[in-house]
Amino acid sequence: MKNKKVVLDRYPEALPVADVMSVQEEEARVPGDGEIQVAVDYLSIDAWIGTTLSPGWLHTLIPEGATVPALGVGKVLASGSLDFQEGDAVFGPFAAQTVATVPAEGCSVVDTSIAGLSDYLGLLSVTTGLTALFGIRDIGQVKEGDTVVVSAAAGAVGSVAGQMARALGAGKVIGIAGGPEKCAFLTDELGFDAAIDYKSEDVEQRVGELAPEGVSVFFDNVGGEMLDAVLEHIQERARVVICGAISQYADNNDVYGPKRYLRLAERYARMEGYTAFHFADRYAEGMKDIAAWMGEGKLKMREQVEEGIESFPRALEMLFTGGNTGKLLVHTGS
Ligand SMILES: NC(=O)c1ccc[n+]([C@@H]2O[C@H](COP(=O)([O-])OP(=O)(O)OC[C@H]3O[C@@H](n4cnc5c(N)ncnc54)[C@H](OP(=O)(O)O)[C@@H]3O)[C@@H](O)[C@H]2O)c1
Repeated sequence: MKNKKVVLDRYPEALPVADVMSVQEEEARVPGDGEIQVAVDYLSIDAWIGTTLSPGWLHTLIPEGATVPALGVGKVLASGSLDFQEGDAVFGPFAAQTVATVPAEGCSVVDTSIAGLSDYLGLLSVTTGLTALFGIRDIGQVKEGDTVVVSAAAGAVGSVAGQMARALGAGKVIGIAGGPEKCAFLTDELGFDAAIDYKSEDVEQRVGELAPEGVSVFFDNVGGEMLDAVLEHIQERARVVICGAISQYADNNDVYGPKRYLRLAERYARMEGYTAFHFADRYAEGMKDIAAWMGEGKLKMREQVEEGIESFPRALEMLFTGGNTGKLLVHTGS
């Protein structure tokens, strides 16, 4: 059986990154003891993948010539582990390839009777739904009546964080996104109270107009100048959640830090960062909470699916150029 995989040919100078990857074909490896072989169905396009591709960026560097890492879902083709059967639907770190032979440890069987297979890369995934949940609920501590602002709000994590803020009782939810279509998606489809198009509007001015009472919680995915613009408007005891800083991943040595951080002191506010992995012992509980909200119709996820493993490099690039709305997935067609 053939496996098609996306390989990192050379380190990129800066994001975006599609031209540094290529697709190669090889014979799929038969699983050994403790391994499973998986026909990968969908791959999750996540910002962290981009940050593994070049020296000095945020995450551990992968070597040139390596298969690009990615989380995926698929079906077990063959198993060398007692915990997995042929035909099981599974989630795991399968990397950007069509047939993955990987250690069974680190993979999990998913229940497709309660959610679709791709939901395990979206609302029920560690890098999307769980990231949003622990950030907005546990760190942001959104409560009844709060005014919540979310950046990169039309993306995967942001769109869920805003809906979760509403489910937790926020009085006002404002999203910041690039372009009129994304802003309309937030207000018309997801029920955000307002949206700011940062490409054509002055974010600092618009936050002041839309939230004259000040911002209780800022869930930030973008960083840089956008963080400063919202810091200017935080309330006393505000919570600023540093989920990500996608505007700053291109050059780790030249990160724009917040110039307005003294607003935290002035307003007895706090800023706290995290990764979803800091909550690893609470994934099961978090998935239950998200599934309950899904059951009540409180969470929607728009999926943007790119077809074929060949689309992976361009899809990854899209994340850094705003080419996606909602959860970006690659359907491998394996
Ligand atoms: N803490 C954690 O454990 C954790 C886990 C997963 C993800 N994250 C972070 O969450 C954020 C969102 O990730 P995601 O996977 O859900 O991606 P996403 O939001 O679906 O896609 C990224 C979006 O970011 C926006 N963007 C890209 N470059 C930008 C720039 N220079 N300025 C402003 N906006 C920009 C684009 O939307 P526009 O068109 O609106 O610009 C793009 O669609 C990222 O910062 C990521 O690193 C953190």
